[in-house]
Amino acid sequence: MKIIRVKNSLEGGAIASRMIIDLIKEKGSATLGFATGSSPETTYAHLVEAYKAGEVSFADVRAVNLDEYVGLDGSHPQSYRYFMNEKLFSKIDVKRENTYLPNGIAEDLTAECERYNRLISTLSPIDIQLLGIGHNGHIGFNEPSESFIDGTHVVELSPSTIEANSRFFEAENDVPRRAITMGISQIMSAKSIILLAFGEGKSEILRAALTREITPHIPASILQKHENLTVIADREALAKFD
Ligand code: F6R
Repeated sequence: MKIIRVKNSLEGGAIASRMIIDLIKEKGSATLGFATGSSPETTYAHLVEAYKAGEVSFADVRAVNLDEYVGLDGSHPQSYRYFMNEKLFSKIDVKRENTYLPNGIAEDLTAECERYNRLISTLSPIDIQLLGIGHNGHIGFNEPSESFIDGTHVVELSPSTIEANSRFFEAENDVPRRAITMGISQIMSAKSIILLAFGEGKSEILRAALTREITPHIPASILQKHENLTVIADREALAKFD
């Protein structure tokens, strides 16, 4: 595991975006695994800047996201499809048909998970998977549980996740209770993983996930086993690291 200590999320985003841009330039194409939430926002802002400066093209990139809320369609401002369109996809030249998220309003959620599993198999391997970490150690929406779940699945969001994500909604009651998420082995099969963590609020969980036992009670702890993990974190998030 490589740890890059940065001053703040701006510097972290610059480094993460540089890794992504270098890969695209080297390969000419790439399959990228994206996350939503606060942590990757500066990475996306830097990618947009680089695109606007003519430094990189996403025309041959395929983008596959980790998760989506059940019950929100892509036009809902809090859906992850909307987030990705707003923060990144509408501002770069990626082909919309090459951007993939689970469909949160699928009538048959089991069939939707199967569709996403097939899609990920077709797109695999993901070259770089970007991750944030939840306060309870979730990655994607793989919440703490008794075992690691391999494939795409529907998950009941834990009370702490609902509380944390309520900052994006008018009221906590508006936060969807379920989500569709990529599973742990799908995340782990990425060729390389970048884990972003900023702020004091992530310090406890970052230490627990990366320096303690590997357990499905802290899903991010599985990342210790990944051979090409880069952690980009600020001083505050690394404060309790030993
Ligand atoms: C989002 C996702 C989540 C977030 C995590 C951290 O697609 O998969 O695992 O990465 O909840 O969220 P932020 O970055 O908002 O602290």
